[in-house]
Amino acid sequence: MNILLIGSGGREHALAWKIAQSPQLDRLYICLGNGGTRGVAETVDLNLDDHSSVISFCQLMAIDLVVVGPEAPLVAGLADDLQKANISVFGPSKAAAQLEGSKNFTKALCDRMAVPTAAYGHFTNATDARAYATEQGAPIVVKADGLAAGKGVTVALTLEEAHAAIDDCFDGAFGDAGAEVVVEEFLSGEEASMFFLCDGKTALPFGTAQDHKRVGDGDTGPNTGGMGAYSPAPVVDDALQKEILDTIITPSLDGMAAAGMPFRGVLFAGLMIDQSGPKLIEYNVRFGDPECQVLMMRLQSDLVPLLQACADGDVSKMQADWSPQFALTVVMAADGYPAGYEKGSQINGLNGLNDNQTQVFHAGTKELNGTIRASGGRVLAVTAQGDSASQAQKRAYAAIDKIDWPQGFCRKDIGWRAVQRET
Ligand code: AMP
Ligand code: GLY
Repeated sequence: MNILLIGSGGREHALAWKIAQSPQLDRLYICLGNGGTRGVAETVDLNLDDHSSVISFCQLMAIDLVVVGPEAPLVAGLADDLQKANISVFGPSKAAAQLEGSKNFTKALCDRMAVPTAAYGHFTNATDARAYATEQGAPIVVKADGLAAGKGVTVALTLEEAHAAIDDCFDGAFGDAGAEVVVEEFLSGEEASMFFLCDGKTALPFGTAQDHKRVGDGDTGPNTGGMGAYSPAPVVDDALQKEILDTIITPSLDGMAAAGMPFRGVLFAGLMIDQSGPKLIEYNVRFGDPECQVLMMRLQSDLVPLLQACADGDVSKMQADWSPQFALTVVMAADGYPAGYEKGSQINGLNGLNDNQTQVFHAGTKELNGTIRASGGRVLAVTAQGDSASQAQKRAYAAIDKIDWPQGFCRKDIGWRAVQRET
């Protein structure tokens, strides 16, 4: 098989690494990839906004399957256009990608299908949104409706913060994404993520994970794309997985199919767990980054037939086998991230770190004359396995100690909750 993988982050390096191990693979192309994917895939530079040029490439190279990593091309309808050209694609249609592209779309689905989630109001003007927040009281959560690069959510501890966040949205801080606003109930509990491979009707559970969104140790400081993650999520036991599937995922898939927009691809459910049971915080229509890195580390099955089954529309006979080991990834980011940071610094010490327990996945890197340079905010995802969270954590940080990159930093406490549970 020839496969084209779309994306250039740590998630895509992990997917490329796993796809490259498939006995079914002939050639793997990646658009655009990074300094780490060069070892496992051929880099191609396609204009992703121009779907016809992507289609032409697929026809020329006899691509059998396109795997879309990030959400933006999905929300822009890349999967629809590929399908119309009879090219098999892993990733949902534009209509189904609204599960990530519009908070209000997902909340309305939850209403229709009685999926447990935070109570909410949906607003198209600041006056009504402010009035609703005042009536509900703080803490309360304000969300720009559309895609806002992970910055559109404010967990407001005071009404003043909530009102300011509402004004920001309607004043255009997130462009069109903030023209509509969801104001919702603050949920407390422990957050976890669960992934499902979906064929439009059926969901195959595809692992659990927890991430660390805040930039600083102790989960402090501003939100980021994710500074580390681990899998499995100890808080999600087998009984809870079944409850999540039965009360959240299956009704959501049924509701999507009934609305004429069956969901095919990976559904990433962000969940809040407390004594009253799991509640949906949000859906994403792609793998998490860096959650994907820990999932790929633990996946023992061949990934390619699983992705192909989603694309073909039948995962009902598929099975995913997982290593019983724990996997943990620590993100190394450029100094200054998630605010401004410099690009171009050289990273040394990467050679010889990868073995059967450790993999350094690249995110924002590029290769320049045989050296690896930082080219983004999140730069490396140093990933390790172990018999326990503590062992995986020790291995990941031991690898980090060998990396020579003075312009980078990482959190020192990734996995603290899971390690605490063990001790
Ligand atoms: P989202 O972009 O929807 O994932 O939100 C980003 C983060 O905001 C989540 O991972 C949660 O930590 C937090 N969050 C979102 N919605 C809520 C909520 N209703 N209650 C508490 N925290 C929330
Ligand atoms: N790490 C969170 C995300 O990919 O959305």
